[in-house]
Amino acid sequence: MSNEVLNYDKVAEASLVKAQRDGAETMWDRRAAQKTQCGFGEAGVCCRICAMGPCRVSPVPGKGAERGICGANADTIVARNFARMVAAGTSAHSDHARDIVHALHHSKAEGPFKVRDEAKLRRIAAEWEIADADTKETYALAHELALMALEEFGKPFGTQRFLKRAPQARQDIWAREDIAPRAIDQEVTTLMHSTHMGCAADYESLFRRGMRTGMSDGWGGSMIGTEFSDILYGTPTARASSSNLGVIDAEMVNILIHGHDPNLAEMVILAAQSPEMVEMAKAKGAKGINIVGMCCTGNEMTMRHGIKIAGNFYQQEMCIITGAIEAVVVDVQCIFPALPELAKTYHTRFISTSQKAKIAGDMYIEFSEATGLDNAAEIVKLAVENFPNRDAAKVEIPDIKQDTMVGYSVETIIQHLDAVVNSQLEDGLGTVKPLTDVIYAGVIRGAAGVVGCNNPKQQHDYAHITVMEELIKRDVICVVTGCAAQAAAKAGLLTLEAKEKCGRGLFEVCERVNIPPVLHMGSCVDISRILHLVNLCADLKEIDPALLPVVGIAPEWMSEKAVAIANYVVGSGINTYLGVIPQVLGSPNFTKLMTEDVQEFIGAHFVFEKDPIVMVDKIMEDLEAKRVALGI
Ligand code: SF4
Ligand code: FE2
Repeated sequence: MSNEVLNYDKVAEASLVKAQRDGAETMWDRRAAQKTQCGFGEAGVCCRICAMGPCRVSPVPGKGAERGICGANADTIVARNFARMVAAGTSAHSDHARDIVHALHHSKAEGPFKVRDEAKLRRIAAEWEIADADTKETYALAHELALMALEEFGKPFGTQRFLKRAPQARQDIWAREDIAPRAIDQEVTTLMHSTHMGCAADYESLFRRGMRTGMSDGWGGSMIGTEFSDILYGTPTARASSSNLGVIDAEMVNILIHGHDPNLAEMVILAAQSPEMVEMAKAKGAKGINIVGMCCTGNEMTMRHGIKIAGNFYQQEMCIITGAIEAVVVDVQCIFPALPELAKTYHTRFISTSQKAKIAGDMYIEFSEATGLDNAAEIVKLAVENFPNRDAAKVEIPDIKQDTMVGYSVETIIQHLDAVVNSQLEDGLGTVKPLTDVIYAGVIRGAAGVVGCNNPKQQHDYAHITVMEELIKRDVICVVTGCAAQAAAKAGLLTLEAKEKCGRGLFEVCERVNIPPVLHMGSCVDISRILHLVNLCADLKEIDPALLPVVGIAPEWMSEKAVAIANYVVGSGINTYLGVIPQVLGSPNFTKLMTEDVQEFIGAHFVFEKDPIVMVDKIMEDLEAKRVALGI
């Protein structure tokens, strides 16, 4: 067990002590077993792309082998490895989006998949220039739009439709630098081809191709995932929820939904609401059914239904260790393969549901759009029937939970801003003008999107919370998604009271607009909401977003998806700060390209900084420099 994690998080302390007592293995045990991690892998200079290898070149230039058998040097190997992370990350977000669009294609008036935000359906249909978008029959329009969205994955010509949401200045840069993404599947496939043995060996070219692929995530897959989820399940609105392991209820049947895709979660919520299911739970001695969420499925459910957040990525094992979870139900992404084995230490059933993420060890109930509600009912029934198997002696739920506010979609943020505009002769009503006004006036110094995962290379949640607290103290408003958002929820930063931690300017804005200083904007695909918000601000000012005092931050990232995200955020003109250093340092050339040279042609760059306090200092310098350049 690591002491680092115990220092910051009291929930972790209790859970890990219990895990030891129960004989349950956790990520901390496995991390300790890994001992020192591979220095070649860490530097990105290990290549196993072909069967002449694996080859590893020296992570320190000038020492040891400088080329693999084929002659690839550190620059090529690092660039190829990095590009493959972008391709994998992009594929994950985008394949998630494809499932959402398929569900929309299955939608019908009688449900269970149906259009819940018709206004957004018609708005996007008009944006995509479908004729008669305002009058067409709802489901005819939904199916037509879904087909168009599916073409975004494989269309033979043209670039992503949502790129037009960016100001012209940014679109011009994308055209000039050839990073405007074409069909999503094409970008992923082409990048995999480029990184095949014997193809691209020019590190800068690989970096640029990687950025274009990442762009197909942010402006393609992720944006489609977000917008089409809103059409199907409703655009999130501000609402109260609760977070941390204390939301698990000892007297209820607890179902933990973990993963990323709202399709499964929405069906489980529907199934669990049925009176027969609730009656069945009561007949088994429970007070009812308590659905709790984890990672981005958790974010999707809390944003739209106020479903409680059991925790973020690194708490997935801790949930099971409470001994009070009847079923862990997972869809895709960020699920530890260790979970089924851990579940066996308790009565918990582990149920995987997607061909894309079938996890051996317990149970598999395949979820499909055609039979979604039936699949969900089977899962809920299984959980309910498992309730009597709970071992009371093993139940210990940490008594820690935190109230939180969630649901700040772009639309909801604009609605809140409207409340301020009304007193100003309706100038800017329905727009982000009040937000740009306070930024330009200097009341707020800038804005930061804080996103991403947990990673044991950082003290858990500490980097997230330190960065956010330091930023709001210095009048920088934060918008958050993913596990960063859940860290903020647990730390009480997503509350109206958190304004007490702000500088004077941000305090006043929070008070007037009646918002927390840290706004929960959703899941990781919902970073597209942040992108949209920034671009609305830039559009209003008719400038390239790269000129605005805004930054992207991933203090504790770990996944390939995060690499794809970082690429599209930088590609969109926003400097991106990484608290975990990507595996690229074995190539000083590639590192310099990411952290300096890319600025020349994209207008933004990556910053690597492990220390959250130093990171915030750098961010403030960055934001203030942007302000000076804008003359504000
Ligand atoms: Fe070695 Fe080149 Fe094959 Fe990579 S592609 S494993 S460097 S021979
Ligand atoms: Fe996520």
